[in-house]
Amino acid sequence: MSESPKREQWASRIGLVLAMAGNAVGLGNFLRFPAQAAKNGGGAFLIPYIVAFIVLGLPLMWIEWTMGRFGGQYGHHSTPGIFDSMGRRKFWKYFGVFGLWANLIIAAYYLYIESWCMAYAGFSLINGFAETAPKEFFAKLTGDTPNEIWAISSWGMAIFAVCIAINVGILSRGLAKGIEIVSKIGMPLLIVFAAILAIRGLMISPATDSHAVESPMVGLNFVWEPKFDSLTNPAVWLAAAGQIFFTLSIGMGSMHCYSSYLRKDDDVTLNGASGAWTNELCEVVLGGTILLPIAVAYLGLVAVQEMVAGGSGFGLGFMVFPKLFNYWGSFAPVAGFLWFGLLFFAAITSSLAMGQPIMAFLQDEFKFSREKSALAFGAMLLPLALPVAMLHSQSFFDEFDYWAGTFSLVVMAVGEAVLFAWIYGVDRGWNEMMRGADLKVPRIFYWIMKYVTPTFLIVILVTSIFKPQAGWEKYVASVTSGAAAPKWEWADDGMIGKLLHKDLPLKEGATPKEIAFNHNLKLVRTVDRGAMLAAFAGFAILVSIAWRKREAEGRNITP
Ligand code: PHE
Repeated sequence: MSESPKREQWASRIGLVLAMAGNAVGLGNFLRFPAQAAKNGGGAFLIPYIVAFIVLGLPLMWIEWTMGRFGGQYGHHSTPGIFDSMGRRKFWKYFGVFGLWANLIIAAYYLYIESWCMAYAGFSLINGFAETAPKEFFAKLTGDTPNEIWAISSWGMAIFAVCIAINVGILSRGLAKGIEIVSKIGMPLLIVFAAILAIRGLMISPATDSHAVESPMVGLNFVWEPKFDSLTNPAVWLAAAGQIFFTLSIGMGSMHCYSSYLRKDDDVTLNGASGAWTNELCEVVLGGTILLPIAVAYLGLVAVQEMVAGGSGFGLGFMVFPKLFNYWGSFAPVAGFLWFGLLFFAAITSSLAMGQPIMAFLQDEFKFSREKSALAFGAMLLPLALPVAMLHSQSFFDEFDYWAGTFSLVVMAVGEAVLFAWIYGVDRGWNEMMRGADLKVPRIFYWIMKYVTPTFLIVILVTSIFKPQAGWEKYVASVTSGAAAPKWEWADDGMIGKLLHKDLPLKEGATPKEIAFNHNLKLVRTVDRGAMLAAFAGFAILVSIAWRKREAEGRNITP
């Protein structure tokens, strides 16, 4: 076994936990969660969400930590090598390509949003939103115009470039001096910023604030009050599981990478659970107490629900929210700065976690230095990030988010759950996990990992590939109660529907301009898919070269 002499390691346990939490806590917690909760019925969403956390989130978190630490002992810090050390079949190292690819593709659009947070934080601080409407600012920053394919804003792109450069710079400093330090500063600040906003938000009262239409409690209640009527709706389950994946950074190869820097007997169970719980605290408690309750207090529940129904949390967070801070008088610039500052810290500790697996791969296999591998990451990013910034958000941005940020997570999770429980073997896996464990994981998780997690994942995968427009529940009902099943039509957000561009319907009576835009959008999306496939193939080729090199050099691959 050849181990590079200057093997990187986490400097301290607290640094490790904060870096892990930083990896998980991201834009998903503060923007995506509230939007998902609002779209899927608030308290009706929370129950499937909690179930998904217990049967998917926690077990997969432990599985990924265990796999990462295992692979790390053989000098592997990215999923092709980590999976290879557990699977011993050619297939697994190529399957591990998902854990490089997804990070690169997600980073390409995630960093773009991160750069918005930088711009917004600065603009808030100079009290810019007192004069300029956030919508206007957003349009200037992104250059996004309805029915125009190109979206070019030179200063928006300049800020994006600065943001990428900051990430590459931090990554090149290495694990302990880069990521760990940024997490140690960023995570506590984020929590303080969020707590201030949450408290100020809860102080809003229609009695004293003439702009408020509602108590913030209405929003809070909406998120928390359990409603059981959604339990039979597969769409809500899918949304909840998808949110759990994204927010915990599961199925991306990022957690594996961080835990591969553990030592052989370091604890994985308590650390893994602490990271997951910290994420949930930041998501459900902090994330659930800022955006929705404040927006609901000033705009009313119905208006807020309508706002998120079509889009994501971005509209609410970037286009509506900054305006509401103006009701807070002289506190407005600070509040805006706290909000976008916290989003920035949340984002950067996550985007670094997307870069590290790719760097680790280049360092392990091609003996790149830190600096060189960080620059290589930046160079790989550019051809993907440029079109994200220069083209309409419905093209590269949305496609990357769907294929790499939503669909591929489930694919990868299915693979690793099967690899861990059925190929490597759940008994060996369990022992590996419990070595050095500071938390005695209840035995029931043995059975969950063996049966429930893989089954649940396969159901999610299949139902999201073959998703009917009418919703699966209609077909379930036709079996249970004999009601007539609706005619089959692919859903616009199912995998097959997406492939067929079902989510880009042409409205009746569309103008020639709209028709041309629609046509171009489909064209650009096809190019985009080609780019994603090319990136995947590129990584697969690198893996193949790397393993040939390993064999030629007689390096031990598997234990
Ligand atoms: N979990 C992060 C979030 O909630 C996103 C992320 C994706 C982080 C991929 C690392 C890797 O925003």
